[in-house]
Amino acid sequence: MTEKLTIRGGKTLEGKIEIAGAKNSALPLIAATLLTEKEVYLENVPRLDDVQTMLNMVRELGKDVTATGPDTVRITGAVSSNQAPAELVRKMRASFLVLAPLLGKTGRAEVPLPGGCNIGTRPVNLHLQGLKRLGVEINQDDGRIIARANNLRSNDIFLDYPSVGATEQLLMAAVCAKGKTTIYNGAQEPEIRDLALFLTELGADLSLKGSVLTVNGGSEFGKGNYKVLSDRIAAGTYMLAGVATGGKVKVESVDPSSIKPLSLKLRKAGVKVEENERSIQIESQGRPDNLEVITLPFPGFPTDLQAPITSVLTLAKGKSVVKETVFDSRFGHVAELSKMGADISVTNSNTVFIEGKNKLRGTEVEATDIRAGASLVIAGLAAEGKTEVSGMKHLDRGYSELQSHLESLGATIERVSENG
Ligand code: UD1
Repeated sequence: MTEKLTIRGGKTLEGKIEIAGAKNSALPLIAATLLTEKEVYLENVPRLDDVQTMLNMVRELGKDVTATGPDTVRITGAVSSNQAPAELVRKMRASFLVLAPLLGKTGRAEVPLPGGCNIGTRPVNLHLQGLKRLGVEINQDDGRIIARANNLRSNDIFLDYPSVGATEQLLMAAVCAKGKTTIYNGAQEPEIRDLALFLTELGADLSLKGSVLTVNGGSEFGKGNYKVLSDRIAAGTYMLAGVATGGKVKVESVDPSSIKPLSLKLRKAGVKVEENERSIQIESQGRPDNLEVITLPFPGFPTDLQAPITSVLTLAKGKSVVKETVFDSRFGHVAELSKMGADISVTNSNTVFIEGKNKLRGTEVEATDIRAGASLVIAGLAAEGKTEVSGMKHLDRGYSELQSHLESLGATIERVSENG
């Protein structure tokens, strides 16, 4: 049954939201549990389809996975297969991250190539180049990567681009390679630090200094108990929903430094932003001012908030420009926002031009990926009349309890099956 969200827009959102664990942290952490046979407890695991996909993946590879509470999971047992099922990798690109732990554990891994997706081509060349530096022999057969290394060897690795996934993959390989590996120009997203802390909890010896990651590999891995970092992108999405509706929204249990670029941009647009140790509150001061936004690897403005902030800027005073530099085609929301009356266009150099208007109108729109979906929900909340967002499967991959959270802020939002 396909479902859609029906939003009656125009309500001012007010209230607070407790932010759940980060999808982008939980996924690599679950993959990393393959490194140990001992019992691992993960807390603050978000209830999301992508997380279920990764839990199913490690289960297929031999792990025993038990939910021990609404957001806690126990993962234990030895790897019994080093072949990742194609349907799970196809469902979610992050499943490719099981490659390094499988290699480290068994000396061999077969993982289908994740292929392209709705936001761009997304190759894995940086993962593979780095693994080769660690002595991994890589072959490709029938759309699968077959990687072999009886003994991973430590080495220096320079990443041509600070890819989040490649940094995570190489970190998980490096902890299995005896000796010192240094990764230069690694990604610095908070989720990388979370993986590093989790690996340390399991027994790894590593340190991070900006974009340089140093690993003394070859440790034994034991049991662990770890709380997943909070989701800075979900926090940012609710902050932006508050701004779009002229409201006042507080996001709690999140580290303000993880979302600084958004807070600073919002202040520049005239929004009142109050940061406390573990919370951020935004308070709209009327229509936001126009902005220029460019997406970059952390600590730059996150690409995952590009679509959500674009929705807000369709309602800003004056002309805004949003440039996407991380992905090569992440604009599924632009045509849909146009249908809602936004004055918006995208050039082939990945730049979005927006002439802010004082209102959007509700209509039928389709989410083409997770963050495009979030952007349409934000637009729908601010728009006049009824917005119907289809493509719920994308939103379910990345936002837990979206509907109830928005309802708690005062939104009128309903989830209905597409045929009534
Ligand atoms: C992760 C996040 C995603 C976020 C992205 C950038 C997860 C599960 N997903 O995705 O939400 O939008 O970081 O912050 O954590 N690239 C290559 N070769 C490679 C790897 C990447 O060219 O081997 C390119 C990609 O095509 C893309 C760019 O690098 O254009 C960034 O990708 P990357 O940082 O790897 O993102 P993901 O780890 O896939």
